[in-house]
Amino acid sequence: MRCVKVNAPSGAYEVKIGTGLLPTLGEEVKNCTKAKRCAVFAGENVFPLYGETAVQSLQRAGLEAESYILPAGEATKSLAWYGTLLRFLAEKRFTRSDCVIALGGGVTGDLSGFTAATYQRGIPYVQVPTTILAAVDSSVGGKTAIDLPEGKNQVGAFYQPSLVLCDTDTLSTLPERERNAGYAEVIKYAVLGDRALFETLQNHSTDLPAIIETCVKCKAEIVAEDEHDLGKRRLLNLGHTFGHAVESRSGYSLLHGEAVSVGMVMICRAAVKNGLLSPDACHSVIQLLKDYSLPTETTYTPAELYDTLLLDKKISGGKLHLIVPTAIGQCDILPLTPEEVRKWLRDAFPS
Ligand code: NAD
Ligand code: GLY
Repeated sequence: MRCVKVNAPSGAYEVKIGTGLLPTLGEEVKNCTKAKRCAVFAGENVFPLYGETAVQSLQRAGLEAESYILPAGEATKSLAWYGTLLRFLAEKRFTRSDCVIALGGGVTGDLSGFTAATYQRGIPYVQVPTTILAAVDSSVGGKTAIDLPEGKNQVGAFYQPSLVLCDTDTLSTLPERERNAGYAEVIKYAVLGDRALFETLQNHSTDLPAIIETCVKCKAEIVAEDEHDLGKRRLLNLGHTFGHAVESRSGYSLLHGEAVSVGMVMICRAAVKNGLLSPDACHSVIQLLKDYSLPTETTYTPAELYDTLLLDKKISGGKLHLIVPTAIGQCDILPLTPEEVRKWLRDAFPS
């Protein structure tokens, strides 16, 4: 088993990565919380595969488990489902000494995490990621959120889990499209700060536990330094500024990772046009994304994306921080006015 410590200022915890970990969930929860009861929130595709193993493990450890099964898809990260989960916890008389288990991908993790962050002003939660994207990114670092009709992740909280337990066996049942979408976030880590990882991916390494550990170590280091996204953590938004706009515009028919892939290509192209990235490096990024069957183009116009982009929660003090690759494994954070971003967005399209 691999173990990465996340030294978040608001609370440290471990990310455990390896095969055969799900049956140990109960003991792990007992070790990191004082819970007597657990609410297991899981998606409708995930619960039939892994719900019983999770619940049985909790029960074997002497913990009571109540499960709630959520519909799959981004639409579940909504005010309505957030309310439903809060009411479920209240009706079942969960208290602040109990625990929420988020069993699934980023949608389940973000929604369950936000529910845990706010129910009775915060109850412990454990992330059990079952997608590559959740394993390398969303389960770690404490960003929890739901969407509004007006935009993605518009309501949320920074709230760190007590543990992240990533059983890599669960990743074997992922549909191919979801698997590839997860690799978009892995490629993001490589482009923003890890040339060796980029080369590992170019060589099509299949050592997923090692790849996940590399990404989690990178994220843990960043979160320890900048938990609340005021500086270095912004690097993790590489490909997300334009990507979120593409994702929202698509009505979420594009998966998050697919949109990030398109967003990375856009920012690489704009970086080339602004003389910050070499055309060769841009080409290598596009090629790697294509190797993982990820989309690299959008049919939306700069004007359409700009309107959506202005809703981005990350605009602060009149500036938006654009993450711009300057080489494979290196990025700059550029604070830009909305007008400057409009120009960068135009530059993101092939002329
Ligand atoms: P997801 O949660 O929608 O899961 C993808 C699909 O795979 C779903 O249909 C799910 O039911 C299914 N699934 C999950 N695990 C499975 C398994 N092991 N076997 C078979 N099917 C399985 O998507 P995702 O890509 O994991 O997460 C995307 C979400 O994560 C977005 O909402 C995004 O905003 C969020 N996100 C959050 C952060 C963060 O820091 N909090 C970071 C990145 C992304
Ligand atoms: N996924 C971006 C972050 O956690 O900051």
